[in-house]
Amino acid sequence: MAKNKLVSPFVKWVGGKRQLMDSIMEAMPKNISNYTYVEPFVGGGAVLFHIQPGNAIINDFNSELINVYRVVKENPEELVADLKKHKNESDYFYAIRQLDRGEDFEKTDKVKRASRLIYLNKTCYNGLYRVNNAGEFNSPFGRYKNPNIVNEPVLRAVSSYLNSNNVQICNTDYDDILKNLDKNSFVYLDPPYHPVSESSSFTGYVQGGWNMFDQVRLREACDDLTIRGVKFLLSNSASSFIIDQYRAYNTSIVKAIRSINSDGERRGEVNEVLIRNYE
Ligand SMILES: C[S@@+](CC[C@H](N)C(=O)[O-])C[C@H]1O[C@@H](n2cnc3c(N)ncnc32)[C@H](O)[C@@H]1O
Repeated sequence: MAKNKLVSPFVKWVGGKRQLMDSIMEAMPKNISNYTYVEPFVGGGAVLFHIQPGNAIINDFNSELINVYRVVKENPEELVADLKKHKNESDYFYAIRQLDRGEDFEKTDKVKRASRLIYLNKTCYNGLYRVNNAGEFNSPFGRYKNPNIVNEPVLRAVSSYLNSNNVQICNTDYDDILKNLDKNSFVYLDPPYHPVSESSSFTGYVQGGWNMFDQVRLREACDDLTIRGVKFLLSNSASSFIIDQYRAYNTSIVKAIRSINSDGERRGEVNEVLIRNYE
């Protein structure tokens, strides 16, 4: 079935894979549509929406993000209507940002919470979804002239894709997804990257961030997938630590441009790795 180009990421996400898409697709098995496609670190979903698989399991530990996927699927028109109410003004932005500090935030209507995340993502500095150690969103106002807060064609196209295909939307630790998979699954893993330097170490996706032990835990989960005959492709930074961790696997170095970095000086070309357990 022809792919719908409008089916694309509805949030800007650190680590989005649009740039690496050609290299990632080249490294994927040719018969990818024969598998259940599994993406345990889905983020903005660049690879998922590029492939548009009929059978998929997507997951992210960030419950606010996964709430948006579910609302886009189930309540697209209410979401569009609520997004139209937002204002691109500094005071209004900080009032909306402040909402997750409240005790009852979890009880807030799911459509309003999804609308809040998309609004903050489109109007915050550099589109950087970042949380502090309390798990609260803390990026500053972006002062953009004309942010694209309500992208109706994309939201409706993604909603129709999620409703007309078998896509399970999960919100848990990646290992809960991996441990139940069999050979009919193909896994694309795009975890928070291991830092190659202080300034490039963005792990502020989730409360507490990621460290070396988290990277080792993931490598051990990949070893387990390999023992069970489940194919995986993983992307990460080309740090010597990561290359050493995955020395038993096929590794290719690819180049990417870093566009999201709090320090403008540090944006530019970096090496990344694509690691797989198949030829
Ligand atoms: C590099 S981003 C993925 C970017 C994605 N490929 C894209 O195109 O936007 C990594 C994602 O992993 C999620 N994450 C962090 N820790 C996790 C965990 N333990 N289990 C599942 N997801 C996790 C983060 O919330 C973040 O969205």
